[in-house]
Amino acid sequence: MLERVDVKTRQADAFRADVWAGLSRPQKTLPSRWLYDDRGCALFEAITQLDEYYPTRTETAILKDDAAQIAAFCGRDAVLLEYGAGAGLKTEIVLGALDAPQLYAPIDIAADFLEQTAARIRRRFPGLPVHPIAADFTSDFDIPSHVPSERRIAFFPGSTIGNLDADETLAFLERMRHHVGGGGRAIIGADLKKDVSTLIAAYDDRHGVTAAFNLNLLARINRELSGKFALDQFVHEARWNESESAIEMHLVSLKEQVAAVAGRSFAFRRGETIHTESSRKYSIESFSDFAMRSGWRDRAIWTDPQRRFALFGLSAE
Ligand SMILES: C[S@@+](CC[C@H](N)C(=O)[O-])C[C@H]1O[C@@H](n2cnc3c(N)ncnc32)[C@H](O)[C@@H]1O
Repeated sequence: MLERVDVKTRQADAFRADVWAGLSRPQKTLPSRWLYDDRGCALFEAITQLDEYYPTRTETAILKDDAAQIAAFCGRDAVLLEYGAGAGLKTEIVLGALDAPQLYAPIDIAADFLEQTAARIRRRFPGLPVHPIAADFTSDFDIPSHVPSERRIAFFPGSTIGNLDADETLAFLERMRHHVGGGGRAIIGADLKKDVSTLIAAYDDRHGVTAAFNLNLLARINRELSGKFALDQFVHEARWNESESAIEMHLVSLKEQVAAVAGRSFAFRRGETIHTESSRKYSIESFSDFAMRSGWRDRAIWTDPQRRFALFGLSAE
């Protein structure tokens, strides 16, 4: 229990520091990891059900269609480490296909949601040890020593890797390689480049669920950091950034205004934005290049017939 309180206090301090630093930049920025409190996680699950949001159903179909090959790639007795596990729905497909998995360790920054996911997986796979790890995967952290070090497989679906910039991606892939060790493997889901109108619709749906997800970040600041954001004076915007090959989510200030956060004030011009998330879109080659530069070897690629999304099978040796 004490450890849980510690995690929460450390997270609250890190959240405040990130918000103060991000809102002090010329281009105001908030790291996307803070989008996921309980409400943000629930809204993200609602996004995954939208017609416009093709990534979840495409990746799920690939996992189902290629389950046997993916299980063979992982091998018997796999120890599955899942980064950014969220609701862990795709995990059920993988765990269901694996040959005698040893242990499942979901990793997520959203500590309460993580516990709910762990409880559901325990009910769904009785007998499988499930060890949740509340951590920020963009920082160094250790996998606890009670997680067997042999046969580790890193699973990172959801194209969450696209939220990292180039330096963070390399650092993350190296950290993941360190976590699985010499004989380890990884399966990483990455969203592929496609026409911009499909991408914009996926991040700005007609029902306004993605807008609510984005605006929840300001509501979270109001709830957790005594923030004073006028929630009806900011709107969601999705933009394509060609040079970064990324969809960006912004919150646009509708007027000149001042918002206070934990005792500090931040001024906004009319039309000024807070950049809250980038979602990078890869080619097969550009992703393989990141994998190679961080010391991984690409061994397998599973994709859908329209090549919208790809799962990369990597080995650490
Ligand atoms: C896009 S959702 C993907 C969820 C799920 N894996 C899927 O494929 O549907 C991203 C998940 O990663 C978690 N997350 C985002 N940034 C994180 C970070 N820096 N460290 C740990 N977890 C993070 C979020 O809490 C959320 O559960």
